[in-house]
Amino acid sequence: MYLKSLELIQFKNHQKTKLEFSPQLNCLVGLNGSGKTNVLDGIHYLSLTKSAIQSSDSLNILHGEEFFAIKGNFELSEKALEIRCTFEAGKKKLIYQNGKALDKTSEHVGLIPLVLIAPDDTELIKDGSEGRRKFFDGLISQMNREYLNQLIRYHHFLKQRNALLKQFAETGRRDLTLLGSYDHEMISLSVSLAQSRSALLDQIAPMLQSHYSEISQGAEPVSIVYESDALRPDFADYYLSLRQKDMMTKNSNAGIHKDDFNLLIGDHPIRKIGSQGQQKSFIISLKLAQFQVFEKTKGEKPILLLDDIFDKLDDQRIAKMMELISRHTFGQIFLTDARPERSKKILTQLDSEVLFFEVEKGEIIS
Ligand SMILES: Nc1ncnc2c1ncn2[C@@H]1O[C@H](COP(=O)(O)OP(=O)(O)O)[C@@H](O)[C@H]1O
Ligand SMILES: [Mg+2]
Repeated sequence: MYLKSLELIQFKNHQKTKLEFSPQLNCLVGLNGSGKTNVLDGIHYLSLTKSAIQSSDSLNILHGEEFFAIKGNFELSEKALEIRCTFEAGKKKLIYQNGKALDKTSEHVGLIPLVLIAPDDTELIKDGSEGRRKFFDGLISQMNREYLNQLIRYHHFLKQRNALLKQFAETGRRDLTLLGSYDHEMISLSVSLAQSRSALLDQIAPMLQSHYSEISQGAEPVSIVYESDALRPDFADYYLSLRQKDMMTKNSNAGIHKDDFNLLIGDHPIRKIGSQGQQKSFIISLKLAQFQVFEKTKGEKPILLLDDIFDKLDDQRIAKMMELISRHTFGQIFLTDARPERSKKILTQLDSEVLFFEVEKGEIIS
């Protein structure tokens, strides 16, 4: 599978940008702020129906305009596939597959598998548990539609349940039957989602370790330990035992929205003891494992977006990463770099076809 061409219309700082890509390597070069990452983000939209950076769709419309449109022509299983994503301020976002609008954007997720390695990825390590849940949820959702549907339902019930708890506190009246029906859904969805999360981590573990050892040339063991109450055999009882607390705090205190993923080096959190280099190697290994899991599940190589990766890594890690790429382990790749001489030097050494695009103020100038 690969992206043959892309058109961005009034998307971020791109008024009208048209690009034809190589099925192998594509490198966007240009000054900081010129619009390189925005091109990658357009590709991200076509795969995941949302931005990797800006969660509000309206902020992705070119300032002063009313809508944006992104169009991509893919080749998928030797067939042409046109994906269009349009968003008009105040309206619903629309996704079209070969001209046909989908009822729900979530129906599209998973069709075009994509892995992004970006500069702020180490937030996965440094920030709170929400970012980690989002990452793993996004990963599983791309492979498993049922997981995504269950997750959407779970968040719907969580919102409803919390609103009900607030209503109890405000009115002093308690509709325990309604609460009970929410509890029932929350418990069974939590158990099912937690099992999927746990199964994914089992699958990822050996790949994570092998990439980490190769990239960092390090011998230390790395792992991800999933912590979830929903894996407890007495989870339903535990959930219900928190009812009084839930009513007092007007919040749901158990369920998979409380889970965390502990990223460990040896027995210790990498956040606390990992050097910068170890943290970067961990994240890249995790993303490469994500790539492999997608390829295994989908039978297609995902599109790989590498945003400013040369800035992030030292020479040794760049060399290792490029060695992996040149072994043709990967499919179509999009890179960005603010320093064209550097990327030209690194990329033209590989025996892959590579196209360079020079971006300036939201336009492709060569
Ligand atoms: N909705 C928008 N309308 C106009 N410009 C935008 C919008 N969103 C972001 N930008 C601009 O895009 C530029 C950043 O582009 P980006 O692709 O991140 O640059 P880089 O080439 O450094 O990766 C910034 O100048 C920013 O102001
Ligand atoms: Mg950028």
